[in-house]
Amino acid sequence: MLIIGPPGSGKGTQAERISARLGVVAISTGDIFRANVKGETALGLEARKYMDNGDFVPDSVTNKMVRERLQQQDALEGFLLDGYPRTTAQVQELDDILAAEDRKLDVVLQLTADDAELVKRLLGRAKDDGRSDDNETVIRHRLDLYHEQTEAVVGKYADRGILTQVDGIGAMDVVTDRVLRAIEKARAAY
Ligand code: AP5
Ligand code: MG
Repeated sequence: MLIIGPPGSGKGTQAERISARLGVVAISTGDIFRANVKGETALGLEARKYMDNGDFVPDSVTNKMVRERLQQQDALEGFLLDGYPRTTAQVQELDDILAAEDRKLDVVLQLTADDAELVKRLLGRAKDDGRSDDNETVIRHRLDLYHEQTEAVVGKYADRGILTQVDGIGAMDVVTDRVLRAIEKARAAY
């Protein structure tokens, strides 16, 4: 499964809940990058240059990381990817990774919310979390990149008939119920 949505739409929040409920490993490219930044690894030092400005980490770096992560034991039976793919080149890479192992995506969930709500949420998180990319200028840039590049990714999965849109506005538990129902429905249609 994939969970796609603009910054602040609740990808991480909902991915954690789906993971707990369905027993599938949740893999967030943003979380992996942040862990590497924290650990001051070579990958982290490279990624940080982009993340602090809200830019995408280059596809070559991100693709290699995802390819390696999906080959780890806990992802072999299935996975929920949060935050990847965000570019059409990443869609191609994921297609290649999965095709080589005769695997395929079941469901692509898109969480939707308007920009005003997203900015409000992320500015709220900035107060307690202190993520280095949660300031208004960078938040707006992240949103712009989503509209410019990641909406095309969503379009590709819609064309393939595996996209399910979920309204991300509302209480977290309400959104979780919507997400779980959408997954059930998508699986039943299989
Ligand atoms: P990433 O970490 O994925 O950040 P993001 O996409 O900007 O999204 P967020 O994690 O900020 O939001 P979210 O949708 O997970 O929402 P959350 O649940 O946290 O990526 C960070 C950076 O890494 C990128 O900018 C890029 O540099 C790099 N990167 C990552 N993937 C990459 C890729 N594939 N290619 C290239 N570069 C990549 O919720 C947000 C807030 O809202 C929280 O405070 C939460 O408590 C609150 N909230 C959640 N749900 C609700 C609700 N229903 N109502 C009210 N508040 C809510
Ligand atoms: Mg997240």
